[in-house]
Amino acid sequence: MTAISGKIGITKRPGELGIHSMDSFNMTVPDLQVAEKFYKSFGLNVKEEGNGLGLYTFDSDRCWVSIDEGAKKKLNHLTFSVFEEDFLPLKKRVENDGIKLLDAPHGFDSAGIWFYDHNNVLIEVKVAPKRSPNEKSNFECLSVPAGQAAATTRSKAQTVEPIRLAHVLIFTTNVIKAIEFYHRILGLRLSDQSGDGICFMHGIHGSDHHLVAFAKSNAPGLHHCSWDVGSINEIGLGAMQMADNGYEKGWGLGRHVLGSNYFHYVRDPWGSYSEYSADIDYIPADKDWQSGDYLPEDSIYLWGPSIPKDFVHNYESD
Ligand SMILES: [Fe+2]
Repeated sequence: MTAISGKIGITKRPGELGIHSMDSFNMTVPDLQVAEKFYKSFGLNVKEEGNGLGLYTFDSDRCWVSIDEGAKKKLNHLTFSVFEEDFLPLKKRVENDGIKLLDAPHGFDSAGIWFYDHNNVLIEVKVAPKRSPNEKSNFECLSVPAGQAAATTRSKAQTVEPIRLAHVLIFTTNVIKAIEFYHRILGLRLSDQSGDGICFMHGIHGSDHHLVAFAKSNAPGLHHCSWDVGSINEIGLGAMQMADNGYEKGWGLGRHVLGSNYFHYVRDPWGSYSEYSADIDYIPADKDWQSGDYLPEDSIYLWGPSIPKDFVHNYESD
């Protein structure tokens, strides 16, 4: 393994132990061809890998999401990553907490540690390069001088290709326990919450406002994966790109309150969502973010269309 801390541009909070990134996740869907069409339309580089699919962005050779075929759509595990020197101390923290370490699932070749969270969601922690950004991501808001046209024609519109997987929002049976577990074991910090209904957590070594979020439900499950694009224009173009491919259902365009990002959610074939996101708040490694607790009606979105009635329904638990 290669030591990756201390490199120019990598940020690390000194003297504190915690994961630096949400590296990737794995899920099962009932039809890989359906998944391939959806994520290709979304602008991702979809590769056949083994018996499943890998979701990549076009400028990275590291997989963000691995997908297997199974009876129904299901979140299987989340992979978080640490600096090399933090791996054994974090493993010791897990063991000292009395959490049972598990073998890697069948078919996963892993040097990481595996264990269940408070809600029996399978977690992997491994050594890997930092995927959380080390500074606030680029956000472009282009205009043109008077006398020029700013917009292109529909036929010449660019294909939107997200830059990176930014975060996931997963369902949990107990949001307060999620905050406690992910802070105590993985070192994540609470960014903001709305009571026991939803919370957003960030990495201590510099990350977006949230790299993982939790919403209350009667069972675990994946609500959405969020993909960073560089502008509001790309969010709008992405929404049109998906609509042109038959994926018209969703929610957006809007702007969140907690995290501040502009968004458009596209409903996937299994009732969860992929989010085009831009300009999310960033919490640097040397900043202690003051978390807040917001009323539900004052926390989800600053502006945008009304939320679809079943937007936070957990279809994995049906
Ligand atoms: Fe999101």
